[in-house]
Amino acid sequence: MPERKPIIAGNWKMHHDHFTAIQCTQKLSYLLDKKDYDQVDVVICPPFTDLRSVQTTLESDRIPIALGAQNCYWEKEGAFTGEVSPLMLAKLKVTFVIVGHSERRELFGETDDAVNRKVRAVLAAGMTPIVCVGETLEEREAGATEGKVLGQVAEAFAGVSKAAVATCVVAYEPIWAIGTGRNATPEDAEATIGVIRGAVAEAAGAEASEAVRIQYGGSVKPGNIAELMARPGIDGALVGGASLDPDDFARIVRFSE
Ligand code: PGA
Repeated sequence: MPERKPIIAGNWKMHHDHFTAIQCTQKLSYLLDKKDYDQVDVVICPPFTDLRSVQTTLESDRIPIALGAQNCYWEKEGAFTGEVSPLMLAKLKVTFVIVGHSERRELFGETDDAVNRKVRAVLAAGMTPIVCVGETLEEREAGATEGKVLGQVAEAFAGVSKAAVATCVVAYEPIWAIGTGRNATPEDAEATIGVIRGAVAEAAGAEASEAVRIQYGGSVKPGNIAELMARPGIDGALVGGASLDPDDFARIVRFSE
């Protein structure tokens, strides 16, 4: 089985202007050291308006934190008012893009087809998509979790080569656990992640499914990261609220309270 390096990504959502983003990045870099970066891939995903400032900070201080975006469009350029192209992000040294976050699916009507187009566009621009999947509370209670994530994974990776799928990151985020303080138990999270890994095998073969990194997301905090990361099937976390505080986020990167 290939070694999968854990990946902890901070999704800042619509928080921080470019000044506070720089402060937050610098503070985080003081708290983390080489040992942390050797053990874990650390990613921060600020709002678009902060990307240039954060990128300059990371580059000038040689901070080995990867830069991520929270969304993008699938076209390279054109008359698409308000959208941001994957090529623009890649030029800014963005290396990860969150695709299909449940807030985008629920609040902005993003469909599985749009997610698939974005996954392919992000890969074509040389970046890595963090593909978000997960069920609502109603779906969970109706026993529909497996079917939901199986469908989302199959659609997200439709038409993507096996080799490209192997490089992707998937984030399993049960919607009822996001920003609610209710997290899935590590056992439940690992079980659904197993289903997702099976869906990746179905879409892209056994090798890709062994290589793809699958994070858990939903109310991850310093207090619950250790038990989540103790599960061999869980390869990291996508962290919302707790990533806004550099102290908390650094503790999450270290899997420690
Ligand atoms: P949360 O958000 O950590 O605040 O629950 C996770 C996410 O939406 O990625």
